[in-house]
Amino acid sequence: MSLSLHTSLLLVFLLSLLLLRGTTSLPGSIGMTYTSSSSSPPPDHVASTLQSLKISAVRLPNPSPSVVRSFSYSNISLLLSLPNSLLPSLASNRSSADLFLYTHVIPFYPRSHISSISLGSDIFSSSSDLSSLLLPALRNLHSSLISLGIHSISLSTTFSFVNIMSTAFPPSSAEFNQPISQLIIKPLLDFLDETNSSFFVNLYPYSVYSLNHDIPIGFALFEEQEPFNFREDSVTGVKYRNLFDVMVDAVISAMAVAGHENIPVVVTETGWPSSSNGAGDPDAREGYAEIYIKGLIDHLKSGLGTPLRKEGVAQTYIYELFDGDEKQGNETGEQNWGILFPNMTAKYHIDFSEASGGPVVEIAIGFVLAVVGVLILH
Ligand SMILES: *[C@@H]1O[C@H](CO)[C@@H](O)[C@H](O)[C@H]1NC(C)=O
Ligand SMILES: *[C@@H]1O[C@H](CO)[C@@H](O)[C@H](O)[C@H]1NC(C)=O
Ligand SMILES: *[C@@H]1O[C@H](CO)[C@@H](O)[C@H](O)[C@H]1NC(C)=O
Ligand SMILES: *[C@@H]1O[C@H](CO)[C@@H](O)[C@H](O)[C@H]1NC(C)=O
Ligand SMILES: *[C@@H]1O[C@H](CO)[C@@H](O)[C@H](O)[C@H]1NC(C)=O
Repeated sequence: MSLSLHTSLLLVFLLSLLLLRGTTSLPGSIGMTYTSSSSSPPPDHVASTLQSLKISAVRLPNPSPSVVRSFSYSNISLLLSLPNSLLPSLASNRSSADLFLYTHVIPFYPRSHISSISLGSDIFSSSSDLSSLLLPALRNLHSSLISLGIHSISLSTTFSFVNIMSTAFPPSSAEFNQPISQLIIKPLLDFLDETNSSFFVNLYPYSVYSLNHDIPIGFALFEEQEPFNFREDSVTGVKYRNLFDVMVDAVISAMAVAGHENIPVVVTETGWPSSSNGAGDPDAREGYAEIYIKGLIDHLKSGLGTPLRKEGVAQTYIYELFDGDEKQGNETGEQNWGILFPNMTAKYHIDFSEASGGPVVEIAIGFVLAVVGVLILH
């Protein structure tokens, strides 16, 4: 035998690492929210810039047909986030759902990769009571899609963490607020389960931190190397190293209480403001925004998931591409959240290239394959 055990072990190990490269991409893709406005660059330029930044998913609030069209032939998957104002007509009958699809989806699909539609956003912040319209609207739109033979666009609605959760601590005991849990969220979860869709939630550690200044800011900013930046779940004893995971697990616990523990979670908005207009908040600053976004991306790319869900969130959309036109529903006041300047240069250097299993995962898988390989060789 000319090859020693060690040499063949090493060879197989290296070979398996090579084979694994590019194939271990774990769930958890990272996207951006892009709100087109009169002050942002033309949508065609935006689509090509996003492509060159290797951003693979984009969420479009209130998407106009021209913006959806600008993503034709790009490989970027689109989440169309429809405003609450469409709920009454979509809930009224199938023909308005058909009409909506014929004007907003059919002309661009499948050249524009529309992967999901959120019907309504944070309906509990609306001045009118939309709760009885949500499910009928989703069902009408779902039947229209199916009758058009479109099975690959999933439907959901977007909630805001602070408006649906009773508390985030301890995450294992979190529940949705009553009475909306029983009246609206439970039937929605049944619909999501039935149609293989996901739970969409806007989740801002910034908001929870702003309301609870006893939380260390490093815990909200993924500064996991700081010795005191963790919180223990007092019921399960699990240690949490960042507030994002606490909030995700609170949602997962609340879904389990409502009878659905396996529905994927999509974080439709998260971010940190880089400045605030007027009096403003001293924690809304560029340095923190950069630390938050980089920490978030590193965390998602690590593939470690959360203590309650090892695969983590299914997708995360960072809020947002350009400073706006203020946020819908002014939960966080008038602040700037953009990661690009209007001339499309980056405010911070952020690496969006494909989220993949971290080196730890790759090496562990490589090692297992190497051992199997050696057993076969000998
Ligand atoms: C889109 O993705 C496909 C396969 O995933 C690839 O072959 C193609 O080159 C991509 N197109 C662009 C414009 O990146
Ligand atoms: C459907 O609803 C729309 C708007 O609510 C209304 O204009 C239209 O007449 C309705 N169509 C049918 C067939 O009921
Ligand atoms: C949901 O997904 C499962 C497994 O992938 C599949 O068998 C089922 O047909 C899907 N259901 C719908 C309604 O798409
Ligand atoms: C948010 O909106 C409410 C109601 O429209 C308004 O009273 C409040 O002043 C706004 N807050 C900010 C910070 O703009
Ligand atoms: C883009 O805009 C930013 C902010 O206004 C400015 O600092 C930067 O120099 C500009 N870059 C180019 C290439 O014009």
